[in-house]
Amino acid sequence: MSDFLILGQIIDFPDAETIRHHKKGAIVVSAAGKIIWSGPSRKLPKEYAKLNALDHGESLVMPGFIDPHIHFPQYRMLAAPGKDLLDWLTRFTFAEEAQFSDSNHAQRAAKIFLSLLLANGTTSASVFCSSHVESVDALFSIAEQFDMMLIAGKTMMDVNAPDGVRDTARQSYDDSNALIERWHGKQRLQYAITPRFAVTSSAEQLQLAGDLLKANPGMIMQTHLSENHAEIAMVAKQFPKARDYTDVYDSFGLLGSSSLFGHGIHLSDVEKTRLAETGSRIIHCPTSNTFLGSGLFNLKAASDAGIKVGLATDIGGGLSYSMLATMAEGYKVAMLNGYKPTIAQMYHMATLGNAECLNIGGNTGSFDEGKWADIIVLNPQATHIQRFRQQLSENIKDTLFSLMMLGDDRSIMATYVAGKRRFRAAVS
Ligand code: GUN
Ligand code: ZN
Repeated sequence: MSDFLILGQIIDFPDAETIRHHKKGAIVVSAAGKIIWSGPSRKLPKEYAKLNALDHGESLVMPGFIDPHIHFPQYRMLAAPGKDLLDWLTRFTFAEEAQFSDSNHAQRAAKIFLSLLLANGTTSASVFCSSHVESVDALFSIAEQFDMMLIAGKTMMDVNAPDGVRDTARQSYDDSNALIERWHGKQRLQYAITPRFAVTSSAEQLQLAGDLLKANPGMIMQTHLSENHAEIAMVAKQFPKARDYTDVYDSFGLLGSSSLFGHGIHLSDVEKTRLAETGSRIIHCPTSNTFLGSGLFNLKAASDAGIKVGLATDIGGGLSYSMLATMAEGYKVAMLNGYKPTIAQMYHMATLGNAECLNIGGNTGSFDEGKWADIIVLNPQATHIQRFRQQLSENIKDTLFSLMMLGDDRSIMATYVAGKRRFRAAVS
């Protein structure tokens, strides 16, 4: 591969207020897959003018989406009809995850899972694997072939879970260490310490997760927090000395600026303050929260408390791999809480904002020079109704708004990872 140009309507979201848009724009991609230059075509430096160009015309060229909370072993179990979180986990989820002790199953699933991410325009993710090392090996080995910036970890879970997915505190610690050794820092891959949630971990296991984090400062730690009332009650019973659910994780040294807490719907002010002061991130998963009836996350209250909030699909509790559909649901949940997010805010969350939550914002998430060329091409007129709706759009903001509210995987025309095209829509 040599250096080349991508042409089109170039759009990225450098902060939550800004839509940076070049109607006729260009990105110069190096042979190594990094962004050398981006801006309006008329300002393209002369030395790049003769490069081969992939011209996407009027299509929108944006940074790849980033999904900061998704479960690989739930890749096909969307729409499992649970009554609530704990019923859904015990009746459907654990049995499906148990399949991932078989490395052939895990390998096949990893190809499908990563292909689905790319077909939805998602170029990076933070992923919960199953409790089996086989699932992590399978996922990382395929992600490595695709050059993806992927963060993933073996789920640690030693209590309140059935045979087939339950580990032990010591085994989860040893497995995590072996996986860190094998994968962390290889190409664009990073390991994440992944205790599932306080319900399925003993104090000993959470202590060992804290030890892993201490031994690997800056490594992502991902878990779930305060998603559902029955879950919160169980945690209070299991950890009677803790002030609240957040304090359980706090007491094992699990809060901090590389810690991602999925959901965080029913937090007290005291918990929010503690999350904010430690720099911990909340990852909002709106399609999962509405599907499982978990509650309406208050985006404004969390942001006002000073917490950095990411936005994720939470497949398979979530109902769509599409970050567009996820943004639309996030918008609706915010509206139900009486708050109207801006368009820049939602797109920023799904791209650079999520990258910043994962501490990879210096490498991906926007078109700044030196970042990886993780790029998607979108068609805001992919369906009949979108074509008619776009007739009413008078500016880029409205084009982006209707794309967010009506778009999904059909909107994705191409996905580039580190400068290589890894997905192309069959019909464009
Ligand atoms: N809490 C613990 N495990 C899970 C999971 O797999 N999905 C969701 N949505 N919440 C969880
Ligand atoms: Zn989850």
